[in-house]
Amino acid sequence: MVHIWPIGGGKGGSGKSFLTSSLGRLLAGLGKKTLLVDLDLGSANLHTLVDVPYPEKSFSDFIRKKIPLLEDVVSETPVPNLYIISGAHDNLDIANLPYEQKVKILKAIARLDYDWILLDLGAGTSFNTLDFFLISQNSMFITTPEPTSIENVYRLVRAIYFRRIRHYFNATDFKALEEEVLRQFGEGSFNNPDCIMEVIKEAHPEKNLLLENDFNSFKFKLVLNQLRKHDNIALGSQICKIIEKHLGLQVDFAGNIAFDDRVHDAICQRVSFLDRYPYTRTAYDLRELSKRIAQFTGQQLLIRYT
Ligand SMILES: Nc1ncnc2c1ncn2[C@@H]1O[C@H](COP(=O)(O)OP(=O)(O)OP(=O)(O)O)[C@@H](O)[C@H]1O
Ligand SMILES: [Mg+2]
Repeated sequence: MVHIWPIGGGKGGSGKSFLTSSLGRLLAGLGKKTLLVDLDLGSANLHTLVDVPYPEKSFSDFIRKKIPLLEDVVSETPVPNLYIISGAHDNLDIANLPYEQKVKILKAIARLDYDWILLDLGAGTSFNTLDFFLISQNSMFITTPEPTSIENVYRLVRAIYFRRIRHYFNATDFKALEEEVLRQFGEGSFNNPDCIMEVIKEAHPEKNLLLENDFNSFKFKLVLNQLRKHDNIALGSQICKIIEKHLGLQVDFAGNIAFDDRVHDAICQRVSFLDRYPYTRTAYDLRELSKRIAQFTGQQLLIRYT
């Protein structure tokens, strides 16, 4: 059974690609056939972090139909069991992917034969990034302890929430929903999930059931990266509580990853941080995270995508 984990965060530089490549190496080391997919089209660089400096094929070959099968754009890496679909050479603006193409990509990814597929997503909340999150009930969000990063991750989770609601309404019904929420609860209330759900429950009970089902099946995990010694180690759990309180979505805290200057050194030297500095706190944290993630054997449910 394939486990698909979109990995994202609201802010650039929070460590999504470093974490994706590190978890990929570790899962592969546990004997899991693991595929990394660089969906940060436009600024793809995941290949560099897994020692594939010049990928010969990339995602755009599939999108531009030069290579018809997604499995044929997979490249091997020097790490046994670890494979990558590179986003290099893509001058594609991810925001411009038409809906049908996106669905085709998501379905093709879901059909690939791997134990683990980790999707490295771009920062921000473009519709396509949000939809790539919704391929799977699992999602991993990365933030650093900085307030700006936390704010962005909160925004990202909220945007995913709204995107899911939008999915069940056509444009006219969605407009009517907005008007009804504003009529009942006043200005600004369409930003409030409780108000929206209240109206959906009343006016569209069948949609409410589907949405509740979706939201209950999401398994959101939060990772706090680049934690420095003086930072609050309970911050990650606190962020999860805030998200649950304000959005009603359960996000489990998956762990802290310590900050270490040598991450930068390893990336500059193009060596694996885990191999070069295995006895650091950061490497320990990454190993613990990978073990927790690898234990996850819950049924993989692909969210309906039509
Ligand atoms: N745990 C860590 N300790 C120290 N530095 C880190 C850590 N994690 C990431 N970094 C630093 O942050 C930089 C950005 O990381 P990374 O490229 O993974 O971020 P990103 O979220 O993928 O960014 P982008 O959105 O631009 O793709 C890395 O080059 C590295 O120097
Ligand atoms: Mg990145």
